[in-house]
Amino acid sequence: MFALRPRNLKVLAAFLFVISVTSFMLNYIEHLGSINWYPEKYLSSFPEQIKRLIQPTWRPCSCARCISEPSLSVWFHERFNQSVPPLLTKHSTIPDDVYHWWLKLQVEEKPKNLSKALVDVFELIPGHSDFPAPDAFRCRRCAVVGNSGNLLKSNYGSIIDSHDIIMRMNRAETVHFENDVGSRTTHHFLYPESYIKLAENVTLVFLPFKTLDLQWLVSALTTGVIRFTYMNVPRWIDTKKDKIIIFNPTFMKYVSDIWMQGHGKYPSTGILVTIFALHMCDEVNLFGFGADSKGNWHHYWEDIISLDFQKSVIHDSIFQTNVTKMLSSINKIQFFSGR
Ligand SMILES: *[C@@H]1O[C@H](CO)[C@@H](O)[C@H](O)[C@H]1NC(C)=O
Ligand SMILES: *[C@@H]1O[C@H](CO)[C@@H](O)[C@H](O)[C@H]1NC(C)=O
Ligand SMILES: *[C@@H]1O[C@H](CO)[C@@H](O)[C@H](O)[C@H]1NC(C)=O
Repeated sequence: MFALRPRNLKVLAAFLFVISVTSFMLNYIEHLGSINWYPEKYLSSFPEQIKRLIQPTWRPCSCARCISEPSLSVWFHERFNQSVPPLLTKHSTIPDDVYHWWLKLQVEEKPKNLSKALVDVFELIPGHSDFPAPDAFRCRRCAVVGNSGNLLKSNYGSIIDSHDIIMRMNRAETVHFENDVGSRTTHHFLYPESYIKLAENVTLVFLPFKTLDLQWLVSALTTGVIRFTYMNVPRWIDTKKDKIIIFNPTFMKYVSDIWMQGHGKYPSTGILVTIFALHMCDEVNLFGFGADSKGNWHHYWEDIISLDFQKSVIHDSIFQTNVTKMLSSINKIQFFSGR
């Protein structure tokens, strides 16, 4: 039924507006016969206004649901804070409380000057976000693909590949697993110790967990002097400089404090990318998270089963799973549990 809700009233108003404007113009043309008529002028200004009337400006996107639009979940809106910057840029500053929190993640003996490391990084890379901006007439559909063994035999490949933005992380490979994990990647999240070679058209989203990581990035793009952090790391990377963007430590602390409520020493790549996606997308679908149907935790490309992953004190995976389940229960994300 066509109930008189505010939204429907607006559609009705827009409809009447179109009819009256059209009939007015038709009359006008009929009476004057030979006025100058520039359809392109009207077509370019007209539809935009009609579109705005039909789609109220408070809808941030054109998907069936938009993550950032108001919802009934107090839990969500107490946490979701769009003022926290997801990426570092040339002009970012890192607040003192964030810096001190971040320094404790992977303790370094003598951390170098962070401001200096950042200046060096942004002398090399532009660091411009390539994520599409929010737009009322666009639906930014994102797949966040974790590395769980529950992807095997899932046949999710084509569903994953149908997204606009496809985020993968750490050592994720697609070759030989296309049917289950898809073949496209737009953004790959990495830190020095998890580096793998990426295809040329993939954006590297670099996660710095210590000052040395930023120094490594500079080294790996120039001199190759750094070959060890707490383990061996690649000396050089061949990613194009304009395809590298940097995850913001301020955003890491936000995920840890607000979303993880301080559980775990620091948040896992999986939850960092999931919350990042909530901020960059209008629709988020989550694949390859959690255990497989037998309760085993492993990567889809290897058979090694991690028995202590759940008990890990570094990342609280039970709390993390509860956060993603909650996001799914309030329809902010869709959870594909694989098999
Ligand atoms: C959201 O984040 C900004 C920037 O970090 C902070 O200043 C502000 O207090 C936060 N808002 C809420 C409601 O927590
Ligand atoms: C760190 O580096 C910045 C920029 O190069 C510089 O302005 C600042 O004085 C340095 N701080 C320390 C403690 O050396
Ligand atoms: C990246 O390039 C490969 C071919 O080199 C192509 O198959 C793939 O679809 C491209 N990925 C994206 C996300 O455009």
